[in-house]
Formats: sequence, structure tokens, C-alpha cells
Amino acid sequence: LGRCDFPQGFVFGVSSSAYQYEGAAAEGGRQPSIWDTFSHTQGKIQDGTTGDLANDQYHRFREDVGLIKNMGMDAYRFSISWSRFFIDGSVNVEGQAYYNALIDELLSAGIEPYVTLNHFDLPQALDGSNGGWLNSSIVDIFAAYAEACFDAFGDRVKTWITFNEPQLFSLKAYSEGSHAPGRCSSCSNGNSLTEPYIVGHNMLLSHAAAVRIYKHKFQARQGGKIGITLNSYWFEPFSNSKMDIEASKRSLDFELGWYVSPLTSGNYPERMRTRLGPRLPVFTEEQRQAVKSSIDFLGLNHYTTRYVQDMPAVTPANTANGDSQVLQLVARNGVEIGPKSASSWLYIVPWGIEKLLLYVKDHYNPPEIIITENGMDEANDPSAPLEQSLQDHNRIKFYQSYLKYLLQAVKKGVNVRGYLAWTLLDDFEWRFGYMQRFGLHFVDFKDNMRRYPKLSSLWFKQMLKDRNCESKS
Ligand code: GCO
Repeated sequence: LGRCDFPQGFVFGVSSSAYQYEGAAAEGGRQPSIWDTFSHTQGKIQDGTTGDLANDQYHRFREDVGLIKNMGMDAYRFSISWSRFFIDGSVNVEGQAYYNALIDELLSAGIEPYVTLNHFDLPQALDGSNGGWLNSSIVDIFAAYAEACFDAFGDRVKTWITFNEPQLFSLKAYSEGSHAPGRCSSCSNGNSLTEPYIVGHNMLLSHAAAVRIYKHKFQARQGGKIGITLNSYWFEPFSNSKMDIEASKRSLDFELGWYVSPLTSGNYPERMRTRLGPRLPVFTEEQRQAVKSSIDFLGLNHYTTRYVQDMPAVTPANTANGDSQVLQLVARNGVEIGPKSASSWLYIVPWGIEKLLLYVKDHYNPPEIIITENGMDEANDPSAPLEQSLQDHNRIKFYQSYLKYLLQAVKKGVNVRGYLAWTLLDDFEWRFGYMQRFGLHFVDFKDNMRRYPKLSSLWFKQMLKDRNCESKS
């Protein structure tokens, strides 16, 4: 497998996010976000850690840009920490200086910055006083933040992603309670069964408001593109029965269609509307028009695949499975769907990415698709010798096989324009803290955050080294 097997101009890169990487939580005028509050709440993070230091990219970004360049990557996706850059409605100059320096460092290394505006970390002040994403006033507040980002960085940033994984965010943060701000029906702060859908609605409207500003005020002059990043598993019917096939479609609607359907056709999927009834907000005609066709590209984060079975009995609603009435299974006739990664949810199923890409093209046909995350982890084993931790042969196999199936989708006509691996460095894995290592580089959290290339980073370097593809075809 080599760069020249991919279409001309295909972009390879690595992804990251602010709270998982930056650290420097109390430096440079940064204010707390909902993730600071959450991770500092006893019992929320499984290993009792926080992102206060994370992998310290704030202080080490020059070295990190060097690592990206060394692999021969074309792009780096990072997110702006809202609470570092834009505080109480105005730009924090120290935050601006940090992102300017990072962007300039990337560009001078020949790496394109791909910037996510919000990767889960809403400023705490907006959640506390206003109800955060539950209050529709967030739409204008987000739009003002987005405008400040376009204004400050859009001369150099040409790829904008409004949100990261709003589906995962709405459910984990407002139904399961396992992500900040940690609301769930059984949690002490209580909630209602409609919250995830209100949050989702406000995120879609916020996305649309930011896009409108970008298109009207910046795009012609700056010449960039704007999209969104959605997460989706592939859902394979457990059996050939009509019920299971229908259940797998329902899963896709509840995970991916929830967001991609409004963005491409202006409304929520019919299966969601029927099942959720009044719990699902309704778009006004004006909102529908604003949301519809508001992406220049679709970012997809894809990791894994599940079998899906219809679940006739009513189980607690307001869980991913309860509302869509499906069982997500990992084995059939005793055979697991794929080998397991270290994260319990992550089964390695390379063929899933091809099926997902073909499905997205057939059902939604977005202008272009970029895989904005794909990757796997190993457990953080403090007693393992460093040398062993760097020999990540399984990760190499993972990337080889997922890329092979991605290429098949491309050959069948899916317009995939880029592929970003998750992730450059070992980092803070949300509620699991530092228990898992997703990085192409090992970070020694106990020894001054030193970075060491894993074999997989060398594999990428080898795969990407040939830039002279035309002369070959
Ligand atoms: C995301 C992801 C990443 C995770 C990765 C591995 O939301 O974009 O959660 O931040 O680290 O998916 O779980």
C-alpha cells in the first residue's frame, strides 16, 4: 500500500483535540470548560486523572509539528479550545497567539491545518448560567465564537469543522452521563428524556448559523471549506430476517441519520420522527433551509462495527438502544465480529468502513467525504518495557486493512478526499483517562512527556514517502 494507490490529491493526516492534548489548563488566560469540571469531579474518570496536563501539546507543539512532518503527513486536525480563545464574548489575545503560532508552524512545515471549532469542551460559564446546549440562546453565542475564529485564523485555515461527533456528545453527555456535563436520567442532576434531542437540535442550528456567517462573510475572500464531523459505526444485520434488517437501518438512522439527514435533506429521518414523536424537535421552514445543504464536506469518524438485532420488548428509553429498539451484538454463532482492541467497545472490523462509505454515498451523497478519525488503542501498561510498547504491529495491520477497504469504496465511486488517523500521540481518552493509548507516538507521561515514535508512525512514513505519483500512471 502506498500513497500512489490513492486518488490524486488525497490527503493523509492525523487528528487530535484540545482537551485531550493541550494541557496548560490554567495558563494563557484559559478559563475552565465543562470537561475541567467533569474530570475534577470524583468518580467521573476511571483512573482518577484529568486533562490538566494531557500530553502538553501547548508547550510542545513545535516538536509535535516536527513529528507530523516526519511522517510525511499532509494535514493536522486539531480543535480550538473555546475557553482558551474566546472568553465572555471577546478574543483572549494569549489564546489567539497560541493558535497563531501552531498554525504558522504547521504551514511552514507544509502541513494543512484542519480546525474543529468544538470538540466537546464548552466553556463552563456557558453551561452554568445558561444551560449550555439545552438553551437555544447558544446558537448565537456559538456563531459569535465561530466568527471570531474565522476572522482570526481563516486567512490560513482552509478546512473548518464546526462540531465533532454531536451524536456521541448528545447521548453520552445528556443520556448516559458519562461525558461532560454528565446529565442523565439516573444522575443526581436529573434530566428529561428529550434532552439529547434538544441538544442535538441546538447543535445543528449552531452549525448552520456558523456556516451562514462563513459563507456570507469569509468564504469568497478566504477560499476555504466548511463541514462537520459525525461519528458512525457500521451496523450489520444480525440475521437475514426482515426485522433485523430494519433494525440495522434504524441504528444507522439513530446514529448517523439523526445529523446527516437534516444536513443533506433538511429533516430528521422518518424512523426517528415516528419513534420519538414529540420528544424530537421540529424544524421551522427557515431552520430547515439553513441546515439543509450546509456542508462542503462530511467528516466521518469511524472505528468499529456491530451486529444489530431487533429488540421487541420496550427497555428504558433515552438510551441509544432503548430509543432505537435494537440490540448491538459483537458475536454471531459464538464467533466475534472481529479481534478486540484495548477499548472494550472497539472491535476491529475493516470491512465495515467500506460498507459505511457506500451507504453514506447511496443515501446522502454528500459533496465529499473525509475520514476525520480512524484508529485503535493498546492498554496503558505501566510495567511494559518501552521497547515493547513501541512495537505496535497490530496497529499497522489495522491501518493497512482499513485503508484497503477504504480504497475499495473509492474504486466503487465514493468521493473520499482524505483520511486522518486517530491519533498523533497517546492522550487523554475522556472517561477512561490515560488507560488507553491510541497514539502513533508513545508518550511517557511519567518522564517529562517524552514522545517516542511507535512502529506504526514509521509505517505511515514509508507508505507516504512517494510524492511523485503522476509520473507512474
Ligand atoms: C472523538 C473521539 C476521540 C477519541 C477516539 C477514541 O470524539 O472525536 O472520542 O476524541 O479519543 O474516538 O475513542
